Amino acid sequence: MADIRTDINGKCRQGTSGNSMPGDGGMKPGADTALLMQASGIYKSFQGSAGAIEILKDFSFCLGKGEKVAVVGASGIGKSTLLHILGTLDYPDRGALFFEGEDVFRFSREKLAAFRNRSVGFVFQFHHLLPEFSTLENVMMPLLIRGEDRRMAAGKAKPLLKRVGLQKRLSHRVNALSGGEQQRVALARALVQHPALLLADEPTGNLDKKNSEQIHELLSELNREMGMTLVTVTHSTDLAAYMERRVTLSEGQLKEL
Ligand SMILES: Nc1ncnc2c1ncn2[C@@H]1O[C@H](COP(=O)(O)OP(=O)(O)OP(=O)(O)O)[C@@H](O)[C@H]1O
Ligand SMILES: [Mg+2]
Repeated sequence: MADIRTDINGKCRQGTSGNSMPGDGGMKPGADTALLMQASGIYKSFQGSAGAIEILKDFSFCLGKGEKVAVVGASGIGKSTLLHILGTLDYPDRGALFFEGEDVFRFSREKLAAFRNRSVGFVFQFHHLLPEFSTLENVMMPLLIRGEDRRMAAGKAKPLLKRVGLQKRLSHRVNALSGGEQQRVALARALVQHPALLLADEPTGNLDKKNSEQIHELLSELNREMGMTLVTVTHSTDLAAYMERRVTLSEGQLKEL
């Protein structure tokens, strides 16, 4: 398991001690290293009624392949904002994001969308399912968007829906599902392309203890089976305990816990 940390200069180092070669520039993300992603010097602010609110301020983050990271922190501190930027759903004001060596915010919009479709699974805090489509169609959607045929897409979506306990809801319209069921559809949709990176925003926020535990198990299994890297925002101490690395945001920067 990669054990990657960000040093005080924002460089990536392997090992909790942060040991590195003297004078080197740190690890670089690439296909042949243990580093999956590096966020470097990211700034993000929003315009509020009383001026700009700075959410991320020279934020740097090194993420190893196969790591399981919990992001915790107070409401409104910027956890969802951070996840949106790591998932390239939103642009930073400044700074760079490298994924396997590529500076993704320099991609064209089309290339960025294709990268996101292929490499990143996203479980949103508020689901963002397509209400006019069924459970099965929602999960098939990322595959249909990238041109897979319906039969192949259904063949991949159904086993995942079974794993999240929704095999009896395949043809339900998603707006007729309960909040927790919708959350499980959103998780299956994020997993259907076997993304290298899963970003999950409160993936068990609406679930009871039993369903939450099943989701924690599923995430751990996928991490083990596929080496899927997992970054999840959570207020749940149970879920945070499943993750080997816990971080929080403090003054717009990342802090290891
Ligand atoms: N599009 C936007 N325009 C203006 N302000 C925004 C926007 N998005 C987020 N914010 C503000 O940025 C701050 C961080 O929001 P964010 O959603 O990242 O918080 P969070 O840590 O995920 O909170 P929670 O735990 O409640 O989900 C909040 O104060 C929010 O009001
Ligand atoms: Mg949030």
